[in-house]
Amino acid sequence: MEPIRVVVYGASGKMGREIINTLCREPEMKVVGAVDREATDESCLPLPDEWEAIPFSSDLDYILTSCQPDVLVDFTIAKATMLAVRLAIKRGVNLVIGTTGLTTDELSEIDQLVKAHQVGAVVAPNFALGAVLMMHLARVAAKYLDYAEIIERHHQLKADAPSGTALSTARAMAIARGKPFSRPPERGKTLPSRGEQVEGITIHSVRLPGLLAHQEVILGGAGQTLSIRHDTISRECYMPGIILAIKEVIKRQGLVYGLDTLLGLQEE
Ligand SMILES: NC(=O)c1ccc[n+]([C@@H]2O[C@H](COP(=O)([O-])OP(=O)(O)OC[C@H]3O[C@@H](n4cnc5c(N)ncnc54)[C@H](OP(=O)(O)O)[C@@H]3O)[C@@H](O)[C@H]2O)c1
Repeated sequence: MEPIRVVVYGASGKMGREIINTLCREPEMKVVGAVDREATDESCLPLPDEWEAIPFSSDLDYILTSCQPDVLVDFTIAKATMLAVRLAIKRGVNLVIGTTGLTTDELSEIDQLVKAHQVGAVVAPNFALGAVLMMHLARVAAKYLDYAEIIERHHQLKADAPSGTALSTARAMAIARGKPFSRPPERGKTLPSRGEQVEGITIHSVRLPGLLAHQEVILGGAGQTLSIRHDTISRECYMPGIILAIKEVIKRQGLVYGLDTLLGLQEE
């Protein structure tokens, strides 16, 4: 079987570099081109084995036309993603998008565009399988215990707080139980140190050097607590999810949001 031809958009970024290194070791895949803002025209990017180099440009349309990929993997910034989506679908290229910060309107535009052009797209705000499972287990537990708080911990350079994963976890837990969580009555003047409230769940955001991405969901009931915790130790954790998405996206048309469906955790 021919390998799946992949172009990486955001190739010089932290995720882009890790993805190229990983895909070069995948026998079923071939990285055929790379795009990033820093690339000069007509340059080449050496692959990790240093035997081969692939076309590397800041011009996404040129790389899509000349390299003819099956899949474009995007880890850039939301502004750049929408441009990439419009170019890729015109050329019949499937999309795996990890860039965060896409709005609901942008997601519905992606949905409409991929349907209209009969290509596939997987958009996942978190490709770490453990993080997806942590959110799934939190949704299951949400029906049985009435109180919950989330502690999310990230490196000091993270732009947003609370994290997108913490916000989605809290919202998904409330949907799963059909109502917001209960909150213990407020006692005294402690509110400023109690974090953000979402659906009755207090989210605490810790930002420190030395951290990468960590989240703990703590549910409480009379005489007991249940903790569900995920720790990202390195960016390697995202790679199995990205590989799964590349393999699946070429078999599907339309938008799949999140890895839950691909992992069989949620009905299609
Ligand atoms: N879904 C997940 O599981 C997951 C996991 C980790 C990260 N992410 C997301 O993935 C994205 C990238 O993360 P990262 O840590 O790799 O960030 P990063 O190191 O800043 O990499 C982003 C790369 O994209 C490039 N870029 C920005 N705008 C561009 C454009 N218009 N055209 C071409 N290239 C452009 C950047 O170039 P410059 O440096 O010149 O701006 C940079 O090289 C972020 O949105 C992050 O939140 C998602």
